[in-house]
Amino acid sequence: MTIRTYDNQKDRETVVALWRDVFTYATGHNDPERSIDRKVAAGEDGLFLVAEREGAVVGTVMGGYDGHRGWIYSLAVAEPARRLGLGTALVREVERRLADHGCPKINLQVLPDNRDVIAFYERLGYAVEERISLGKKTGQP
Ligand SMILES: CC(C)(COP(=O)(O)OP(=O)(O)OC[C@H]1O[C@@H](n2cnc3c(N)ncnc32)[C@H](O)[C@@H]1OP(=O)(O)O)[C@@H](O)C(=O)NCCC(=O)NCCS
Repeated sequence: MTIRTYDNQKDRETVVALWRDVFTYATGHNDPERSIDRKVAAGEDGLFLVAEREGAVVGTVMGGYDGHRGWIYSLAVAEPARRLGLGTALVREVERRLADHGCPKINLQVLPDNRDVIAFYERLGYAVEERISLGKKTGQP
C-alpha cells in the first residue's frame, strides 16, 4: 500500500469514478469534477492524497487548512479494498501533513446516519462534538 499526493494527470479519471461509486451526489457543488478542479485551482498544499494498492488507486482523502482549522473531506476506499487499513492510513497521513502545516485541530462532518464511519473515526481518536453545522451557497457553481 502506498499513500501519495494526488496527481491530476494520472489520477483524475480513477478518482472521479471512485467518488461516483462511493458517494451520493445530491448537490451540484459536490460534483467530483468540479470539486477536483477547485482543489487543483486553489494550489498544491500536499493535502489531497490517494491510496494505491497493487498499482491501482483505490482510496482518497482531501484535506484542507485555512490557517485556523484543518478539515478532512472525501475519505473514500473502494469497496473491495475496505477493512485492509487503507482508510486508517489515509487519515493518519493527512493528519501528519496537516500537523506539518501548523494545524492545531482537525474537523470533519459526517451525516448522522453514517454510523459505521462515525465508529471508524472514533477509533482514530475523533470525538463527536455538539455543534450545529450551518452552510450557505455563494452563487459559484
Ligand atoms: C470509512 C472508510 C473510508 C473506511 O475505510 P477502510 O479502508 O475500510 O478502513 P480501515 O480498514 O482502516 O478500518 C479501520 C477500522 O475502522 C472500523 N471500521 C471500518 N469500516 C467499518 C464498518 N463499515 N463498520 C464498522 N467498523 C468499521 C473497524 O474497526 C476497522 O478495523 P478492523 O477492520 O480491524 O475491524 C470506508 O468504509 C468508506 O469508503 N466508506 C464510504 C465513504 C464514506 O462514507 N466516507 C466518509 C464520509 S466523509
